[in-house]
Amino acid sequence: MKKDFLSVRDFTSEEIVNTFDLAAAMKADRAKYGEALKGKTLALIFEKPSLRTRVTFDVGIQQLGGFSITLLPSEINLGKRESVYDVAKNLERMVQGIMIRTFAHQIVLDMAKFASIPVINALTDYSHPCQAMADYFTVREVKGRLKGLKLCYVGDGNNVSHSLMFAGARLGVHVTVACPEGHKPKPHAIEHAREDAKQTGGSIEIVHDPVAGVSGADVVYTDVWASMGQESEAEARKKVFLPFQVNGALMSYAKNDAIFMHCLPAHRGEEVTDEVIDSPNSVVFQEAENRLHVQKAIMYQLMK
Ligand code: CP
Ligand code: NVA
Repeated sequence: MKKDFLSVRDFTSEEIVNTFDLAAAMKADRAKYGEALKGKTLALIFEKPSLRTRVTFDVGIQQLGGFSITLLPSEINLGKRESVYDVAKNLERMVQGIMIRTFAHQIVLDMAKFASIPVINALTDYSHPCQAMADYFTVREVKGRLKGLKLCYVGDGNNVSHSLMFAGARLGVHVTVACPEGHKPKPHAIEHAREDAKQTGGSIEIVHDPVAGVSGADVVYTDVWASMGQESEAEARKKVFLPFQVNGALMSYAKNDAIFMHCLPAHRGEEVTDEVIDSPNSVVFQEAENRLHVQKAIMYQLMK
């Protein structure tokens, strides 16, 4: 494993699958790993809100015998009160790992470059790799395999869509992104994922017709239409994205046994209806729980 966990693309298919196997072992036998990171501390830097990421990293490090300390913008005011460089040089002498959620992706890259200790990307405007790891771990749990499955991500070509493409490409999944024109994933993200998919038999497709995208899918995935930091665009986006709502009618084009996924938080009645998110095919809370197990496996490999 590398020093940091910044992008799924930094890891081979084998390393990703090994991480899933370790996460499964940790999920099956929590006590066995109860002292795996005994006495180690992880700093959690949050420049955006969080429920799942905060709780799963905090509980996860405790379950491995370690501690966490949460640092909010009101406390460290990253880049303003103190530079990213100075924060990194301080923290590397005090804690054994840094988890960071922020806006600009470059901040996470800089933190990793300056700090001698592991840095974990817990969401930037560009990517959300821990989420994609938990997502495909969940698909593997439910479907028993990954290679050759079709996952359709419906909605905004955002951070979550990027990481789903990167991880899907490494795992031989056929990833389709169904999005409005003008809300595609970043061109270089598509290019990188397509390059990686060639090695595994996976594929990356971008379509603008949600029905075509969802047709024959094993997994239908969506996310909010306006991400954190885009609140001022939320109203305007509602009109553009309405045809991309995941509702019962859209789900009927997927396979009969298709599962529904969402990174959460969900805006019920916008990107997904209650009938879909509360249906028996929805695995959103299993997916949320799996953030815990997969991140424990990531922390263990980086910090042991
Ligand atoms: N999915 C996810 O990262 O949730 P939070 O924003 O609540 O951490
Ligand atoms: N795309 C969303 C994901 C939240 C977990 C956001 O960045 O707000």
